[in-house]
Amino acid sequence: MKKWSCTRCGWESSKWYGRCPECGNWELEEKEEAPRGAGASLRSPSPVFPSTSLRAQKEKRIPTGFGELDRVLGGGIVPGSAILLAGEPGIGKSTILLQASAKIAREGRKVLYVSAEESCPQVAARMERVGAFCEDLFVTSTRDTEEAVAAAEKLSPDLAVFDSIQALASPGAGGSASQIREASAKIIEFSKRSGTASLIVGHVTKDGSIAGPRTMEHLVDVVCQFEGESHTALRIVRAVKNRFGSTDEIGCFEMKGGGVEEVTDPYGIFLARGESAAPGKCVALPMEGKRCLPLEIEALCAPRLRGESSQRAVNGLDYSRVAMIAAALQQHAKIYLSGRDLYLSTIAGAKTREPASDLAIALALASSFKNSPLPGVAAIGEVSLTGRIRPVGMAEQRLETAERMGFKSAVVPAAQKDIKEKGGISLFRVDNLNDILQLLR
Ligand code: TYD
Ligand code: MG
Repeated sequence: MKKWSCTRCGWESSKWYGRCPECGNWELEEKEEAPRGAGASLRSPSPVFPSTSLRAQKEKRIPTGFGELDRVLGGGIVPGSAILLAGEPGIGKSTILLQASAKIAREGRKVLYVSAEESCPQVAARMERVGAFCEDLFVTSTRDTEEAVAAAEKLSPDLAVFDSIQALASPGAGGSASQIREASAKIIEFSKRSGTASLIVGHVTKDGSIAGPRTMEHLVDVVCQFEGESHTALRIVRAVKNRFGSTDEIGCFEMKGGGVEEVTDPYGIFLARGESAAPGKCVALPMEGKRCLPLEIEALCAPRLRGESSQRAVNGLDYSRVAMIAAALQQHAKIYLSGRDLYLSTIAGAKTREPASDLAIALALASSFKNSPLPGVAAIGEVSLTGRIRPVGMAEQRLETAERMGFKSAVVPAAQKDIKEKGGISLFRVDNLNDILQLLR
């Protein structure tokens, strides 16, 4: 087989071109292509294993010492993998990673913590605060990716933490997208080659838009987001990509004076406890992975100010979903929301995008509109455009959690006949949006 090759850039084609489409060079030379298969036979073949022999070779994960973090990672850190921990500056990424590093090192594994943002004494001060000093935890401070990788290469730890990719990517400020990609590619290549897992810190701003970690998400195996409002102590770790596990689990932490602490009983974190019943509230029962975490939804439908156009603001919920539910309430339950300002929010920065939360959103809106409180009420159900309340998955588990949390009643889809009343929670079955009016008097 003949082929044509550019003498300048090496671009190849089986057809002749007057000019190289790649670099514009006018000179293409004719070459004899090696017959198919000949090239492959020169190489040694990639090793082939009977699948049964691989059972024993299943990767052994490194537990981080935080059960909540392991849950998100899908059972710990996979050796040789690359993990990105992204979050806003000041949210606590360095803190949790130093703590996890120490916990891993205390289990007899070697860990290297590369700080590109702080000097060794500054890292030591933080270690003092969170109690991270230990034998097998090593620290280096550099802003040079190659120096950092070389240090990891020499130490050959089980885990290397690179804090942060922005600081490593550019010794100056910022770090352009291509610098970040280049620096992370070096780290990831090292991890794959050496078997040292790498945990890379990336800063993102609130809108997540900066040309930083976004550009490296497809390069790494796992992307975790560290979320929380800086004025509250609650922190959530969420996997947004995971080659080794599911992406719907969350890990809950609390920021304390001596570092982060796991919240092992997180079921009440998204509820406003201790507040008396008020109109405009209802509790949804969304699933976060295998757990149901009850979530309070607050709504306010206030009369629009004269002369102003009406306002709608939504926090923690899907805006277009809320608009659809508001339209369905108006059409099917005669709850006239047009001409009103609508505000909806969740507690503690929680988010739910599950359709199973629709009914709770509708109830919160209707409760505010009718100025009628729904004390101790949780709800499950998807609202359809026709106003019907549709069944949801995992209903039993959601209601069990609600009962355990002390809810007195739950509003459920009438279509979901399999749910039986039991224990201390009474069920109110609704077939369509109009039925909810009976709850609000
Ligand atoms: P940090 O881990 O430096 O954030 P990031 O690496 O994501 O930029 O966390 C900084 C904040 O955490 C800072 O406001 C102080 C607070 N903090 C605590 O509340 N307790 C602690 O033990 C530590 C070390 C920090
Ligand atoms: Mg930091």
